[in-house]
Amino acid sequence: MCGIVGYVGNKNATPVLIKALKKLEYRGYDSAGVAIYTGEEILVQKAKGKLLNLAEKITGEIIPDQVKKQDFSDTEMALYDKTGDFIKGCMGIGHTRWATHGEPSDLNSHPHTNMDGSISIVHNGIIENYADLKAKLQAQGIVFKSQTDTEVVVHLLDQKYKASGDIFKAVIETLHVLEGSYAIGVICKDYPDRIIAARKESPLVVGIGKGENFIASDVPALLEHTRDVYYLGERELAVLYTDHVDLFNFDGEKIIKQPSHVEWDMDAATKGGYEHFMIKEIHEQPKGLTDTMRPRIVKDASGKPVDVYFEENKMDEAWKKASRVVITACGTAYHAGVVAKYAFEKIARMKVDVDVASEFRYRDPILDPSDIFMVISQSGETADTLSALRLAKEQGLKVVAITNCVGSTVSREADDVIYTLAGPEIAVASTKAYTTQLLCLFLLAVKAGKLRGTLSDEEATKLLCELESIPSKIQEILDGKDVIQKFASQQFNKDKIFYIGRQFDSATSLESALKLKEVSYMHSEAFAAGELKHGPIALIDPATLVVAIASEPKLYDKIGSNMVEVKSRGATVMVITQDSGDAFEGKADLVCKIPECSSTLASLLTVIPAQLFAYYCAIMRGYNPDKPRNLAKSVTVE
Ligand code: M6R
Repeated sequence: MCGIVGYVGNKNATPVLIKALKKLEYRGYDSAGVAIYTGEEILVQKAKGKLLNLAEKITGEIIPDQVKKQDFSDTEMALYDKTGDFIKGCMGIGHTRWATHGEPSDLNSHPHTNMDGSISIVHNGIIENYADLKAKLQAQGIVFKSQTDTEVVVHLLDQKYKASGDIFKAVIETLHVLEGSYAIGVICKDYPDRIIAARKESPLVVGIGKGENFIASDVPALLEHTRDVYYLGERELAVLYTDHVDLFNFDGEKIIKQPSHVEWDMDAATKGGYEHFMIKEIHEQPKGLTDTMRPRIVKDASGKPVDVYFEENKMDEAWKKASRVVITACGTAYHAGVVAKYAFEKIARMKVDVDVASEFRYRDPILDPSDIFMVISQSGETADTLSALRLAKEQGLKVVAITNCVGSTVSREADDVIYTLAGPEIAVASTKAYTTQLLCLFLLAVKAGKLRGTLSDEEATKLLCELESIPSKIQEILDGKDVIQKFASQQFNKDKIFYIGRQFDSATSLESALKLKEVSYMHSEAFAAGELKHGPIALIDPATLVVAIASEPKLYDKIGSNMVEVKSRGATVMVITQDSGDAFEGKADLVCKIPECSSTLASLLTVIPAQLFAYYCAIMRGYNPDKPRNLAKSVTVE
């Protein structure tokens, strides 16, 4: 997720900004930049890669690789201080970028400037209508330097400023044209005494100092300077001067707000007040899903969702003609592929084969040029997945990739890329990447169904409307997490945990069991519920917890019978279901109810209690879920 900082005061802004960005490194980034008002002009410096690269570029000094590997070393800090000798100025903005539109590069890094360099902005979020706005601006002769969605904002602002001669008015007018989510920081050469900042659906904090004021995406960037902050609310603006801050709504009316005093220490602050990244990322799922979905759903004039559009998608013809989809991935991403098999069959009536990449690459797979080959990878760097991708390309197949990392190897080598816009995932155990992968797969299935004429317009609209309701339903589950926490406190010492389910729910069982074993080290397995009596039932005893996932009302009787079978052999049973309890009366020790949802899309919901259960079991067993033993976030070796 991008990080924004801004400073207006009496100190040299460049080192202040770079050090503040350093405190936002935990958010993940691929490039960085600053724009400083020097007294005469706005000077911009940006660099792909680490903040150290930016500091090297500014100072011309090269830091040895050994030092680069150390975090917060004295050499690094000294170099940041030195940047102030090269760019002098007491006001500026800075940014760390996590690429969403356009690869990581110097040009795509923020800040972005208007054509004459007199206005500069930093942005975190996604401008959903940027393609339309860009086309209009280009038609008027505006030359774009980057591939970003952000650049439209600064050119629009420039136009509006030229029309009114009032930068504040121009910012407000620009905000009214933008669709999507954003936190922005703006500086203008003609207003050397102020920073203008605004937010809608992306976080922004104003730090209140003495003779200096700040903006930042998150509190850790500010803690060295102040603990007094304004948390900007939805559709609020701040104008920061050296000695005071004015707050406004998007109509330009002044508002009064009480500052908050931050009590968190740095560690808690980087996790947004959560104890671990894993639980933070579990809670980020409603936002990650909204960000991933909103730009992709096409609506008609009345606002009714009618179709799906992936701007990166160049394979419509291939989707129309494909005889099969072949999916390969590893771990959690593979489980998303298993859900996709059910989804594509049901929604688009397409044949799907799913394989773990490490198996696929050593088989002699039978592939046909009319197959669509799909890889799914959060990191885009998993060695086995990459090899599978290359094998498919060698055989002449077109490859579509679903990944969370712009510029990753997978994204570069695939013919077509669909990005999950989950933001960086820091915890080793994948949570928000998984649900955003599922979402992209459901959207793709709808698109494929429409292209192939196997899904009616009415059915497509119904599914898309329901997808739009998923983030708030996940929020509902998160709000009721205490039930799961309590259940985990009773079960965390169990010897064996089995997840069972049918259809989509058997796929969710795989992911649920993986999550639990990864972070809590409890022995957990997943079985298709119908397979129980073909062997695994021999393992059931009173030390077993069975979690049944039951999202399909037509199969309640069947899974209910499986629950009775294991309960009568002494197992404790929890069921995750949308039924309010009647269907499983007397068959479960805990009914974990999820909001109502069609069984087609319910895997986006049923996995949430399982993620929470895994997290709480890990905590209760005394483990750090963010860094499970023996595991790496990205497996770049075989
Ligand atoms: O980056 P990728 O999605 O390609 O990674 C694949 C797996 O290594 C990954 O999903 C792994 O299973 C996670 N630790 C799951 O939580």
